Amino acid sequence: MNAYELIQAKPHLHVFGDGTPRLMSLLDNALKWMADELSTRKDAVTLETGYGLTTVLMTMLARQHHSIAPDEPGYRRVLDYCKQQGIPAQGLQYHVGFSEDVLPKLDIPDESLDMVLIDGGHGIPTPFVDYAYTFKKIKVGGYLVVDDIQLGTGLMLKDFLLESKEWGLTGFFDSKTCAFRKYAATPGADWYQQPYMLQMQGQVDRLLAQAPGKGLDYVSLEPVVAAHKWTVRRAPEPAALESKLLPVVGVERLKLAALRDRVRKVAIFGAGQHTAWLEKILAGQEGLPQIVAVLDDAPAGKPARFGRPPVAAEGFDAGQVDAIVLSTDCLQRAMQLRCRALYGAGARLIDLYAGLPAGPYRKE
Ligand SMILES: C[S@@+](CC[C@H](N)C(=O)[O-])C[C@H]1O[C@@H](n2cnc3c(N)ncnc32)[C@H](O)[C@@H]1O
Repeated sequence: MNAYELIQAKPHLHVFGDGTPRLMSLLDNALKWMADELSTRKDAVTLETGYGLTTVLMTMLARQHHSIAPDEPGYRRVLDYCKQQGIPAQGLQYHVGFSEDVLPKLDIPDESLDMVLIDGGHGIPTPFVDYAYTFKKIKVGGYLVVDDIQLGTGLMLKDFLLESKEWGLTGFFDSKTCAFRKYAATPGADWYQQPYMLQMQGQVDRLLAQAPGKGLDYVSLEPVVAAHKWTVRRAPEPAALESKLLPVVGVERLKLAALRDRVRKVAIFGAGQHTAWLEKILAGQEGLPQIVAVLDDAPAGKPARFGRPPVAAEGFDAGQVDAIVLSTDCLQRAMQLRCRALYGAGARLIDLYAGLPAGPYRKE
């Protein structure tokens, strides 16, 4: 049996849950391109994530072929098929396991592989992990084949490779499979050196520009808040989750205020339990505004917080600070009214939990 006969025979090497044989394979154009390309290479060494017809094809045409998939019986079917068809299979090294577990332990020299096919798991992060552990192993002049570019992960990987100067698109098959030739060795690059990431950043910047006044909150913190609302709805024990999320949101909001709104000095409004908790979670954090005062309507006898004895809110000169932090997770409305009455409409107030469902929350 030669490679084209194999492609025509289409052995069903996967099975459905009920054991019925099943074909899950690249389509003919991609398979034929792989067969043609590998036929021109003497002593090729290849690797794939996922197994199937391609395992037989690559074993047939390469001197050594690594295949990684978590399906031992699948590999037995592959070996049985090779035996039936008289296809030598001594070059097949199959590794039973998930590629994210197997690849980091696989000892393959850099720049040694002629072809890598990424067609194992298609969820995040698997195709990217497959890429991370194989891109250096491919020879200059070798190929990276990405299947299932109709799925989001394959699409992203394909778009990233299209924009990378080290890789050139050499095959696009059935709107499903892409082949890229490696033109230069690459040690990898940080995001600002990657054209794809710069394009993505352009999209983020446009998103920010379309949401004036919302700034970083819109792309970073709001999804956290939205996810939290969803988590609270479905989680059996929301309080436990809240106690983990709350410090993150509080710290993040203050950091954002410092970074985005240039809030340098703040006063904390309220010297009660929430402020005692806030003092704990802010300890050791960097990038926060400086806390210059702790205000309270009844400061007498309350302990110092942030190294400052509480002072009467009434009579405090709000012009000394860039913002007043409402130190509460349940009385924001009342505190806002009070601050407006004391400091006027122009004072900047920071509600650490704006957007979250009403508290109080359980805090650790
Ligand atoms: C679409 S099939 C591969 C088909 C094969 N490339 C072909 O054309 O004949 C996907 C395979 O990936 C395997 N798989 C799923 N998750 C995986 C993972 N995390 N690592 C490696 N293989 C995985 C499945 O067992 C399945 O065999």
